[in-house]
Amino acid sequence: MIAIVEIRTKDPLMSAVYALRHDVFVVEQGVPEELEVDEDDEVATHLAALSNDHVIGTLRIVRHGLIAKIGRMAISASWRKEGIGRKLMELAADVASRRGAEQIILAAQLTACGFYKRLGYTEEGAVFDDAGIPHVTMRRTLQL
Ligand SMILES: CC(C)(COP(=O)(O)OP(=O)(O)OC[C@H]1O[C@@H](n2cnc3c(N)ncnc32)[C@H](O)[C@@H]1OP(=O)(O)O)[C@@H](O)C(=O)NCCC(=O)NCCS
Repeated sequence: MIAIVEIRTKDPLMSAVYALRHDVFVVEQGVPEELEVDEDDEVATHLAALSNDHVIGTLRIVRHGLIAKIGRMAISASWRKEGIGRKLMELAADVASRRGAEQIILAAQLTACGFYKRLGYTEEGAVFDDAGIPHVTMRRTLQL
């Protein structure tokens, strides 16, 4: 049974969230460690997917006026392709919508574009580099 909880930066679960992000982005993908945690973590709402109290998935939501930005989407390698990423993204859209956001934007790694497209996001603009990984902006308009 997978549970998803909404937490803020001071929550005790955040150390497990950061550990998962470190495994996925720094160890697996080679993102420089000093870029992985940033000032947005202080103001973000974080979602954590839990299996037996163990954090196996996460993302964060940062509000910029009527736009919510989703980032740091990571599922533990052994839990991928089981629908957990989709569940996190759907809950993130609900959270953003309840808080008054009209659109969601995100910077998608090119290898993850297909995942976001299935969830209703559309690519826009040119491909850009972030932490050595090619990304593209993707956007979804929320139902009002
Ligand atoms: C990308 C990622 C978040 C997907 O999470 P996940 O839990 O494996 O995805 P889900 O099982 O919920 O997949 C939902 C749908 O997207 C598809 N999908 C999953 N990963 C995909 C990918 N990389 N490309 C295209 N489609 C993908 C699934 O097949 C599924 O399709 P379906 O609804 O037709 O069955 C996960 O692979 C991950 O954490 N990767 C490493 C970190 C990363 O790249 N994060 C994204 C940064 S922008």
